[in-house]
Amino acid sequence: FVPRVLAGRKVVLTAGPTFEAIDPVRGITNISSGKMGYALARACAQAGAEVVLVSGPVSLPVPAGVRRVTAGSALGMREQVFAALPGADVFIGVAAVADYRPLEVAEHKIKKSGETLEIALTPNPDILAEVAARQDAPFCVGFAAESRDLDAYAEGKRRRKGLPMLVGNLVSDGMGGDENTVVLYDDAGRHPLPRAPKAELAHGIVSHLARLLDGCRPQ
Ligand code: PMT
Repeated sequence: FVPRVLAGRKVVLTAGPTFEAIDPVRGITNISSGKMGYALARACAQAGAEVVLVSGPVSLPVPAGVRRVTAGSALGMREQVFAALPGADVFIGVAAVADYRPLEVAEHKIKKSGETLEIALTPNPDILAEVAARQDAPFCVGFAAESRDLDAYAEGKRRRKGLPMLVGNLVSDGMGGDENTVVLYDDAGRHPLPRAPKAELAHGIVSHLARLLDGCRPQ
């Protein structure tokens, strides 16, 4: 039994990695599997929300009750997020979006030579920061995957992006696998959740965000 704490709400989430093309056959990506974002999308649907999942390139089945749209690059993901956003009450950025993309995409496959190859990178837009900065921003939940100093970096990201809630995890704990260890950060402080399968953690994250969301509702 899952309490329907998000009934009547629309949730837009991102999940998985992005793929930033270098040439027609190569690109820059990362080891995000999409499992955390898909588990969260499923938990939101089970909690009664209308769910749009904007997914990077992963091979996971679409959770029941979820509308999935796919994206390749960070720019493509941003476009899909903004298309899905009208009417959203909640936006959750679970995706490991590439911070940089190649400045130029080679039209043809780059040929091997004995020389050093340098690829110039340019920063990608920060989708979550852009959504959170909107005047009509939904309730925004960020994620942060860190390799050290989780509390300082995660809470720093939450404050910099002006988020009411952020989920922090260590890369070694949660990226790629079926389980995770997360800490929730909000204005009241840090709230660690015990290590658990991502499907189970997702319900804990949803009930925390639903409590905060209900607290935000105009009286
Ligand atoms: O996919 P899994 O294998 O299950 O792993 C889950 C996870 C480790 C990827 C997930 O739990 C997680 O932590 N996701 C966030 C990854 C991350 O490091 O994000 P970040 O610190 O680069 O970005 C912070 C926040 O801004 C995130 O909510 C991110 O989605 C968002 N962001 C970042 C950059 C960008 N250009 N646009 C964004 O929206």
